[in-house]
Amino acid sequence: FEIQTFNEIDSTNTYAKKILSQSKISDPIVIVADKQTAGHGRRGREFYSPKDTGIYMSMILPINDNAVFDGGLITTMTAVATVHGLKKSYPNVNFQLKWVNDIYVNNKKVSGILTESVMDVELMHPSALVIGIGINLNSNNFPKDMGRPIGAISNNQVDKNKVVADILNAFYKLYPNYQKGEFMDEYRQLSMLINHQVQIETHRGLIAGKVIDFDHHGRLILDNGNETKAIMTGEVVKVH
Ligand code: BTN
Repeated sequence: FEIQTFNEIDSTNTYAKKILSQSKISDPIVIVADKQTAGHGRRGREFYSPKDTGIYMSMILPINDNAVFDGGLITTMTAVATVHGLKKSYPNVNFQLKWVNDIYVNNKKVSGILTESVMDVELMHPSALVIGIGINLNSNNFPKDMGRPIGAISNNQVDKNKVVADILNAFYKLYPNYQKGEFMDEYRQLSMLINHQVQIETHRGLIAGKVIDFDHHGRLILDNGNETKAIMTGEVVKVH
């Protein structure tokens, strides 16, 4: 597939959506930048993207007309694939996943994923997913007001192009069968939340309980003492 690289860009996700608004794409395109001036994350947050110390990439994944697809599960799969790719260059680092799809090292967030879907307005069906992956490899001096602990993976220098290639290879290994959710076993092992008491901000408000599992759709299974609930999406705000 095609890879487009930039020294500097506003946001690889924004650029990907611009491509999709201008033409119909039938093959994946990957966009990689050394720096973003307007990198953003879930819930409108900024994604700090300084020059050269991180990986900022987006993948345009065309969706066939009428195909049944599960964007949430693809995002969850992307988190596992990103860990697979990173492990090749950082074999001794202990990567952990924080639901939904943040990657942590030493209790600091080192990577986030933002998936956006683009609609085909005529077909009223998503025509593509834009999957943005941001990774702090060795960034330092994070702004203090980022809300939660942000960190970098390690000071060791790695070959960034190889990391990108390893992540893409890992992605395409899992993607053909993602609907079976076979990677969820590994997701569970990598999760830092299982058996922990958490608070989750959902669109219905704050809920608390113990995380007992993740199901094969990537939903978080929460036990609040009386019942178990499957939670589709939300933000874990507290872990005990
Ligand atoms: C999050 O942590 O909430 C998701 C962060 C996603 C950041 C990546 S960096 C490449 C792509 N371009 C963006 O503007 N965001 C994503």
